[in-house]
Amino acid sequence: MQDLWQLQEEALSRFASLDSAHALEEAKARYLGKSGAITERLKALGAMPPEARKQAGALINQAKSAIEGALEQRRTELARIQQERELAATALDVTLPGRTSGQGGLHPVTRTLERIESIFHGMGFTVAEGPEIESDAYNFSALNIPSDHPARAMHDTFYLAPGYVLRTHTSPVQVRYLETHALPVRIIAPGRVFRCDSDVTHTPMFHQVEGLWVAEEGLSLAVLKGLLSEFMRRFFERDELATRFRPSFFPFTEPSAEMDIGCVICGGAGCRVCSHTGWLEVLGCGMVQPKVLAPLGIDTERYTGLAFGLGVERLAMIRHGVDDLRTFYENDLRFLHRFA
Ligand code: PHE
Repeated sequence: MQDLWQLQEEALSRFASLDSAHALEEAKARYLGKSGAITERLKALGAMPPEARKQAGALINQAKSAIEGALEQRRTELARIQQERELAATALDVTLPGRTSGQGGLHPVTRTLERIESIFHGMGFTVAEGPEIESDAYNFSALNIPSDHPARAMHDTFYLAPGYVLRTHTSPVQVRYLETHALPVRIIAPGRVFRCDSDVTHTPMFHQVEGLWVAEEGLSLAVLKGLLSEFMRRFFERDELATRFRPSFFPFTEPSAEMDIGCVICGGAGCRVCSHTGWLEVLGCGMVQPKVLAPLGIDTERYTGLAFGLGVERLAMIRHGVDDLRTFYENDLRFLHRFA
């Protein structure tokens, strides 16, 4: 039975040397398969005399189970090696920083709009809206700007189909709102406006927030000044913010004023941002011109209105020290990320 011993040794060392599961199963066939060496020997037992058969059978079965044991052991080993290989290939370094899709943020103009809305909300104003494509009638005529009036030249209007324009300001919302709501009204109307103009302080599209407050009593220029001064103090988070109102002209307010705040960059000493005046112009305002209210059936003896219109980008530029308004609309992420 010397060769049986050899056969077993050969099988064991062969199994140990193989390192693929496939090769191992092929090698198994050589010994334990249908015509494998061990199987052949077992078959040959039948031809032996009973005594020898018993002895030989025991030895062959011993060798067989040794081979089977080695096979099973190698299978387990190979499975473990294979698993280790796979783990190494798909290794995950949990200490690496995560790769996220990047966090978005609100556009600085949107954030400024939200800030303005929330401050006015706290002062009792609700939000109204109007169309961006506006009729000539609402954008101009109803606001006391007749078609042949030179005040039209104050606006670089985008004209659309005859009788229609891209609204040049949010003031038409004043008229639309008064037409459809009972007095008193106290609203702001934020939104896009359009003017054919582009330089460091102008883009063809920008945002305004209109304000309108019409009531039976208690409204005056003093209230308007107090309201807007308080708004600016809250917006710029300065309790001691200087303000001044310069006489101005708008066809839809009388009297009209332009509001300035003390330069928040230099504190009034004079710098590049305020053109060395110490003041920054922030909005237009005034008491609503009775010629706007009367055609709407409002008794101008009883009711008084105050109105204002501010530029959102302008406030955002001052608050964040941005010196070119166009950068808000160039979609340069390096710029936009500063506000996220
Ligand atoms: N609509 C004016 C403008 O765009 C601003 C304004 C609004 C002035 C309301 C007075 C009252 O310039």
